[in-house]
Amino acid sequence: MNSSPFSKVKGLMRKDLLGLEGYQPIVPPEVLSEEAEIPVENVIKLDGNENPYGCSPRVQRALASCSYYHIYPDPEQREVRRALEGYVGVGAEYIVAGSGSDELIDLVLRLFLEPGDEVINCFPTFGMYPFSTEVCGGRVVNVLRDRNYAVDVAAAERAIGNRTKVIFIASPNNPTGNVTPERDILKLVETGRVVVVDEAYYEFSGVTAAPLVPEYENLIVLRSFSKWAGLAGLRIGYGIFPALVAEQLLKIKQPYNVNLAAQVAVQESLADIEYLKAGVRAIISEREQLFKKLSKIKFLQPFPSEANFIFCPVVDGDAQRIHQGLRRCGIFVRYFDTPLLRNSLRISVGKPEHSDALIEALQRIGGKGSG
Ligand SMILES: Cc1ncc(COP(=O)(O)O)c(C=O)c1O
Repeated sequence: MNSSPFSKVKGLMRKDLLGLEGYQPIVPPEVLSEEAEIPVENVIKLDGNENPYGCSPRVQRALASCSYYHIYPDPEQREVRRALEGYVGVGAEYIVAGSGSDELIDLVLRLFLEPGDEVINCFPTFGMYPFSTEVCGGRVVNVLRDRNYAVDVAAAERAIGNRTKVIFIASPNNPTGNVTPERDILKLVETGRVVVVDEAYYEFSGVTAAPLVPEYENLIVLRSFSKWAGLAGLRIGYGIFPALVAEQLLKIKQPYNVNLAAQVAVQESLADIEYLKAGVRAIISEREQLFKKLSKIKFLQPFPSEANFIFCPVVDGDAQRIHQGLRRCGIFVRYFDTPLLRNSLRISVGKPEHSDALIEALQRIGGKGSG
């Protein structure tokens, strides 16, 4: 492998991608277990907003007995889209599934962006929006949220220029956990730009813009099966798009973008909805318990959440040292320290025993993070 800076192949690459920082993904449990020198089953993974209860047992059984893995999956995702019709309450012509909602973020940008076009990113928010914008040759325009992490609609409106194509709103927002009210979404829709409301955590908030999609030609809602349905590893998400946009996306996507296992898993999950909803209720109830406990820790200032994680700025101490102290105890949370998001942690809601271990470790470590 030639990694010399003089390598000719480098000269053939897109120059705008060479300096790209790349997305910071999470680390798999086996690597975490090696790092903390503990068995993988003892790792407490609160860094990826995954579902601690796993997927529905119906999904596991159906995947074990499926006998069509040698056949390509349906490129038009007919059964999946039909099953989603009932769940979402809009027709299949508005629905397209993707390999996680991550893929749909990328596909939407591929559809709308020409090189140099702009995307409004309501910061702090999910890192895939700027990442995919840059990979697609677009320019990111950061519009800061207000001090309560609400989208600053007036600032977003002011930031719109001739080349603005897309505005991303995560609701509930990652990492802050708050939802954006419908009136703010509609104000942005009125600008005529494509407004993408990312509802990856919808099932934990119960707040959705999905029924509005058929009424507007520029409103998109993205959803995921990673969080509420415990299918992060299978990569399955979907979007509710204006029919014209859905038609174009079906045309430009990779034909087999949603694999067969994921397609089976969606149908079985929706057939076992009561089981999954019980899991969501358990996570919401644990979120409230965890929030109360975190609020009693002096060096943290947890922010109320409508998702399955809690954002915790560290108000007296060093978030990085606390993060590292927790890692040494085998507890993994997300740490942020960027120019716009200083000294904070994001903690996924796990099972009650995970919260107990976390709180006990935080008390031991203390704000200065020496534990
Ligand atoms: C706001 C938001 N959107 C989308 C995603 C990605 O979801 P998926 O696993 O469906 O790609 C995440 C994952 O963390 C997220 O936080």
